[in-house]
Amino acid sequence: MTLPLNNAQRYVPEAINGDFRGKHIVTVEQFAPDDMDSLFKSAARMRTRVQRGDRGLVDLCLGKVMATLFFEASTRTDMSFQAAMLRLGGEVISTSGGVQFSSVYKGENLADTVRAVGCYADVVVLRHPEVRSSYEAAYYLDRLNERLGTHPVVVSGGDGVGEHPTQALLDLFTIADIKGSLDNLKITLVGDLLYGRTVHSLAKLIALHGAVNTTLAFVSPEMLKMPPAVMSFLKSRDIAVYETQQLDEVIGDSDVIYWTRIQEERFPLRADYEAIADQFIVTPATMARASDKAILMHPLPRKHEMGTQADHDVLDADQRSVYFQQMANGMYMRMALLAKVLGAER
Ligand code: CP
Repeated sequence: MTLPLNNAQRYVPEAINGDFRGKHIVTVEQFAPDDMDSLFKSAARMRTRVQRGDRGLVDLCLGKVMATLFFEASTRTDMSFQAAMLRLGGEVISTSGGVQFSSVYKGENLADTVRAVGCYADVVVLRHPEVRSSYEAAYYLDRLNERLGTHPVVVSGGDGVGEHPTQALLDLFTIADIKGSLDNLKITLVGDLLYGRTVHSLAKLIALHGAVNTTLAFVSPEMLKMPPAVMSFLKSRDIAVYETQQLDEVIGDSDVIYWTRIQEERFPLRADYEAIADQFIVTPATMARASDKAILMHPLPRKHEMGTQADHDVLDADQRSVYFQQMANGMYMRMALLAKVLGAER
């Protein structure tokens, strides 16, 4: 017997196809190379305009309202989205005191919560522990739109161990911005590739961009390898991928080293986490084996996978460490995306 698909599974995200306006953003699979390049150009323009104090920015989303619904902890995604909307002249709302004071804690489900928020906001940024929760939100917002004739959109701020599409967009923008091109790069993703949603989205986005002669290397413990679904997607896009547990096989000729935190909170068994928690730690000694031209990225937050505070201090001063630029680019990328989905910029 075949079980019927649930609503979340039924929702099929719309390809951007050159037009962001009114589209839910739930997966990187919606983006073609031209869509990415258009966002990258816009993010660079946003950065220039913010840095020169362009007051015209506040006209772009004047009168628009963004709601944040964060069911998981966040500093960067939550605050960069809020800052992005405020800098574009829009308003930001959230439940007073966070989602723990929303009606979710009276037992309301995501479908109803997101529709309530969709009645008050033009865009809902959702972070939720369930994979494909943003698909479910998109599906129910569309049902609401059919009844009310309004058009709020959802933008995923990360769905459990699934995807983090806006993180991948800012990551790829950062690589393109620093390297000048996405062609001819060896991009190495290290650490928790199983539970790390940022690397799922980034690997897929790189493959979708179709850069010439760019390859991926994945370095992780056996139990934290990239999920089969992501590997099949990459295979279907014909990008060369090398998997190993030995960083030394690939670090010397990597152009981009993207380090990740082992996602302690996602492990079903504490013993499994403890078995590999200390296996992939980047320190100044690690970076001594990397090329002078390599860049070190990390989505942050970081814990002991970057060693001690003394290691952090040395790594932070290394010109190859670009994770703070990456973090800053998050706001510019989210400004670009908000302006586009809200129809303020093409
Ligand atoms: N990179 C990232 O998603 O950070 P936050 O969890 O702080 O949002």
